[in-house]
Amino acid sequence: MSQAPLLDVQGLKVIFPTAMGMVRAVEGIDLAITPGECAALVGESGCGKSVSSQAILRLLSSPPALMSARRLQFDGQDLQTLTEQQMAQIRGRKVGMVFQDALTALNPVMSVGRQLDEVFIKHCGMNKSQAKETSIKALATVGVSSPDQRYRQFPHQLSGGMRQRVLIAMAFAADPKLIIADEPTTALDVTIQMQVLEELKTLQQERHTALLLITHDLSVVNFLADKIYVMYSGKIVESGPVKQLLGRPFHPYTEGLLASVPRLDTCTARYYQIPDQVPNPMNKPSGCHFHPRCSYRDSLCAQHMPPLRELMPGRMVRCHHPLMNKDEGTAHHA
Ligand SMILES: Nc1ncnc2c1ncn2[C@@H]1O[C@H](COP(=O)(O)OP(=O)(O)OP(=O)(O)O)[C@@H](O)[C@H]1O
Ligand SMILES: [Mg+2]
Repeated sequence: MSQAPLLDVQGLKVIFPTAMGMVRAVEGIDLAITPGECAALVGESGCGKSVSSQAILRLLSSPPALMSARRLQFDGQDLQTLTEQQMAQIRGRKVGMVFQDALTALNPVMSVGRQLDEVFIKHCGMNKSQAKETSIKALATVGVSSPDQRYRQFPHQLSGGMRQRVLIAMAFAADPKLIIADEPTTALDVTIQMQVLEELKTLQQERHTALLLITHDLSVVNFLADKIYVMYSGKIVESGPVKQLLGRPFHPYTEGLLASVPRLDTCTARYYQIPDQVPNPMNKPSGCHFHPRCSYRDSLCAQHMPPLRELMPGRMVRCHHPLMNKDEGTAHHA
């Protein structure tokens, strides 16, 4: 049953030395994604999601970023040993990327069609007319209306949803094995968000593309992902299959994230908020980084960082007091 991972990350660390001190943004995370699988990386703002994904693709300029990993394997290649030129071949061709802000991710002075053409010309060896024909088809595939006209337009002439679709078309253009999508729909309103997610899901399933989806939105995770990694203050605190994990979280942080999702089916205006905030990465608490915000903490939590343990097959949890009893948990957030 277990398939060799397409992306295998072990012990990934990123430190930014700054004038104020060392920012320990990512503190040794493990991620594995098999071909065609969608893994979601979730957590509050500042917990290290974007830095992790940029480090995987070696997009952080180093120095200043200090990056290391025990293993950083993609499709049988050790990404740490590749030259910058070889990495440039991987980005865009073997790994597509969708960034959060489509307006800044696209070149404002080039038509969207030409930007798409470039991917087909650079990574698929097409000539200009083949690229144009393929680009127009690609725009249609992601639900861009009147693709012939849109092809000639500039990013500012498109709505946010349309621009995001163009970015998705670009990410899929070279038929990559993996796509890293960092908050691909956060900037969109809810109805457009759903449409764009549908397009993303359809393409991902049709092409059997693996997806690393970065988001703080658990409903997006529930819709798209097979597996979830919950990140807190630079560490993975819980991981496992989506339905199981969201149905029954073991880590108090995951429980808090779930309790914070506003629900429309309860006629209450009150919803839960995890107290306080993600700690300053230059001054993280002792022991478990989450303990000052955790209602289950005891003295052990303040002293020792819990190890990541497999509590059930496929369910990893980093907590001294995981929520194993069914009655535990929700009572604290009722
Ligand atoms: N170039 C940098 N120099 C110093 N610190 C940085 C740098 N880039 C990121 N950080 C810090 O690293 C931590 C993780 O940042 P990151 O952007 O990965 O968060 P995130 O989980 O993606 O948050 P969000 O949900 O807001 O996008 C943050 O504390 C951030 O301030
Ligand atoms: Mg981010």
